[in-house]
Amino acid sequence: MAAPTSEVSHHQSILSVKAVAESCIQSVPSKYHFVNDINGSPSDSIPIIDFSLLTSTNLHHRSKALQELDKACVEWGFFVLVNHGIPENTMRSLLDGSVEFFELTNEEKQRYEPKGVLDPIMSGNGSMPNSESHTILAWRDFLKINLHPTFYCPEKPETLRDILWDYSVRVRNVFRRLVEAVAENLELEQGYMDDVLKLDSCFQRFVANYYPPCPQPDQVMGTPPHVDYGLFTLLIHNGLPGLQIQHNGEWFKPDHSPPNSLLVNIGQHLEIFSNGRYKAIKHRAVVNNHSPRISIIIVNGAAPDAIVGPAAPLVERDGRALYRPMEFMESVRAMLTNRY
Ligand code: OGA
Ligand code: NI
Repeated sequence: MAAPTSEVSHHQSILSVKAVAESCIQSVPSKYHFVNDINGSPSDSIPIIDFSLLTSTNLHHRSKALQELDKACVEWGFFVLVNHGIPENTMRSLLDGSVEFFELTNEEKQRYEPKGVLDPIMSGNGSMPNSESHTILAWRDFLKINLHPTFYCPEKPETLRDILWDYSVRVRNVFRRLVEAVAENLELEQGYMDDVLKLDSCFQRFVANYYPPCPQPDQVMGTPPHVDYGLFTLLIHNGLPGLQIQHNGEWFKPDHSPPNSLLVNIGQHLEIFSNGRYKAIKHRAVVNNHSPRISIIIVNGAAPDAIVGPAAPLVERDGRALYRPMEFMESVRAMLTNRY
């Protein structure tokens, strides 16, 4: 049953957006208002990369896929990855397990109320403790969990632990193969990226976003425009539109990506490492007025203590470094602290 309105206002700071949405409101409280144009353009030109060709022993196939990957990274900073080998069942169970988390009682979820931007497990709504503007809230609830190099998992739902572990390993494998491909495209020696960025201990963070239906979708923002930290973010969702990516100053909707594909975007640390050859892409998520949308992203970065700066051979080639080197975890903290 929906919570009475008085209770909603009483617990506003800690209430999930899910509970706000369920409290029968016809119009969105003003603190969620966002100056908005939520429309985006459909695009059939968003690059599709075939992972099985990228890792193929057929050199001709592989080199063609490498070229396509390079083009996607330079022109879009975003691509749809197909034939990645992660079973559809795994993805579905992970989405189901995440929904179960969001359906836990507020009391259970509040155990993981955020205290800092990088707590190993944190659950909350669009307002972050570091938020610059506390007057705008995103229309979403989130669950964030560090998966690697140290694995964490909330106690409930119990089904989540095994599936999270399995997905983390599988995504890490896809991520490492993508890094190998990128290294080849950047003409770096084999193993160079793995060594410098200490990828055996790469930082991996899980983020599940729950966007409840909203009576006025054009008045709010699910996730405001931002770029991700890390090297590559891999995203899956429950099939509803919402994600938009910026390309040539316009918002595009990768809504017609093939089922079971992974949506991949370049993060700030790959931009830095590639000395600006690849750019972190800006993206956002809008919401709808009929069904909850769930997305799950895994951010894949360097090791927490790795120093990330432009790769030395690229600096030599380009004649100068466009970014300052910084310890990975320290720079992530700085990036998250300056965000919405
Ligand atoms: C994110 C993100 C987009 C989405 O969590 O960083 O960009 O579709 N999410 O939920
Ligand atoms: Ni993002």
